[in-house]
Amino acid sequence: MAKRIGILTAGGDCPGINATIRGVCKTAIHQYGIEVIGFHDGFQGAITGDYEEMTDNSLTGLLYMGGTVLGTSRAKPFKQFPADTFNKADAMVANFEKLGLDAIVCIGGNGTQKTAYKMVQRGINVVSIPKTIDNDVWGTDQTFGFDTAVSIATEAIDRLHSTASSHKRVMVIEVMGHKAGWISLYSGMAGGGDIILLPELEYQIDSICNAVYSRIHKGKAYSIVVVAEGLPTDGQSNAGEYIARKIRETMGLETRETVLGYVQRGGAPTSFDRNLATRMGGYATDLIVREDYGRMVALQGTLITSVPLEEVGGKTRMVPSDHDLIVEGRKMGICFG
Ligand code: F6P
Repeated sequence: MAKRIGILTAGGDCPGINATIRGVCKTAIHQYGIEVIGFHDGFQGAITGDYEEMTDNSLTGLLYMGGTVLGTSRAKPFKQFPADTFNKADAMVANFEKLGLDAIVCIGGNGTQKTAYKMVQRGINVVSIPKTIDNDVWGTDQTFGFDTAVSIATEAIDRLHSTASSHKRVMVIEVMGHKAGWISLYSGMAGGGDIILLPELEYQIDSICNAVYSRIHKGKAYSIVVVAEGLPTDGQSNAGEYIARKIRETMGLETRETVLGYVQRGGAPTSFDRNLATRMGGYATDLIVREDYGRMVALQGTLITSVPLEEVGGKTRMVPSDHDLIVEGRKMGICFG
């Protein structure tokens, strides 16, 4: 059985990472007597050999803490730049051998899953855990971080309603999500958005303006437009700015935009994300104990399971156009573009 393992967190941070670090390490230490070392700043620490021993004390207070105590970066061990003075992948493998690691847990989004699979191909014993506010990792029904981001975005939309109503304005809010529209759909529906735009669904400026006009016609003097950052635009402006400008130019209405940005990624996770992260962390350690390597932990329905990393790498989980929130939203008169 594994005696000593490594753990790292890579890519953009999200609420729940610390809870999953705690889940992995506490299960390893308490249940199986496995030693754990944590690499700093994602793959950067694995390449340079920058790490700390994880102990019971270092795991205290992590459950509700945002960010990642291990630090993160977008360093890619399998990407060699001309300026690199040594082979990063070789250096990382040498560090794992020197430190006597039986396996490594990689916590990250799509980029990390791709790297994790390359590590599998190099013969490293890897188990990965998906994490991102974007909810776009293929193979899992949900990632932790998403529920928290949706809650933050929903609260922001709630707050826009009163100011939009007082000033009789069109309020456009741009939310994160990278290329996918999960945060836009879930926060837009929960926050009562009148127009909700996702990269997965084509939109016409005319139909957005018609939706605003039809609300005015019914005596509703304000509208809330929720826009995913990944929405295609003219290529010059960000999505929120572009949609707000087009509404203003076409309708001559007072239109304001809000780009919510990084607050969606910061701070304490919701209880749902804490529990999902905890379950995924414990399961990752169980996979290592079973020597079931080369797999990503996943939520399928209500169950925690795992999928082969080979199947995950390079894919993005987009919102299906027949998602029930879209279907139900359309029946209620919400405009999706
Ligand atoms: O993947 C999470 C995410 O916050 C995306 O929603 C966003 O597009 C991106 O990261 C921002 O990345 P960075 O931290 O590099 O600015």
